[in-house]
Amino acid sequence: MIRAAVFISGRGSNLAKIIQQCQAGTLRECCRLVGVVSNRPEAGGVEIAKNAGLPVIVFPAEKEQTREKYDKALLKKISEWKPEIIILAGFDRILSKVMVKAFPNKILNIHPADPKLFRGLNGYKWAFENRLESTRVTVHLVDEGVDTGPVLATAVVSLTGAASLEEVEARGLAVEHRLYPKAVRQFVLQLMAGRNH
Ligand code: GRF
Repeated sequence: MIRAAVFISGRGSNLAKIIQQCQAGTLRECCRLVGVVSNRPEAGGVEIAKNAGLPVIVFPAEKEQTREKYDKALLKKISEWKPEIIILAGFDRILSKVMVKAFPNKILNIHPADPKLFRGLNGYKWAFENRLESTRVTVHLVDEGVDTGPVLATAVVSLTGAASLEEVEARGLAVEHRLYPKAVRQFVLQLMAGRNH
């Protein structure tokens, strides 16, 4: 079992899928969720986590707080969970080197686009405004850049005929929800295999 903490900022639909898969799906025997962090008290994902009985830390950043200071304080808060990996699921803060160095190659993120083409927030808006025929949802490891770490898994989302941003997002999220638990599973199985050597 690999102990995982999930970081969120919003709706939490990916969190919900990962919880589902940990409870009764493909992650059941390899991934244990030890807690959820939200930097936003109003995030829908907070309720999802609480309803699933998971420990939740709501930890908004202070004004003027540096990313390093925030991450240092957050590391302290989550230390009792003893997470081995961090799963970012819509966490809208850029991680500092403090967090990245504490979990080297152990932080996963899902990005709604091909990071070679688009990095940062609002990837579906970008796809919609550019009238893309498809976009590529990407799961990657987090390094010190923004959406620059090694790619673990990708899936193409057809956007043909998608007439609104909502439609683009709905199609993208449906693909994310299948891809992310699968990619997490592959990743933790590899970690577990490495541990046994
Ligand atoms: C997803 O589109 C994900 O790709 C991006 O943030 C969004 C999070 O959505 N990083 P949700 O909170 O999981 O519903």
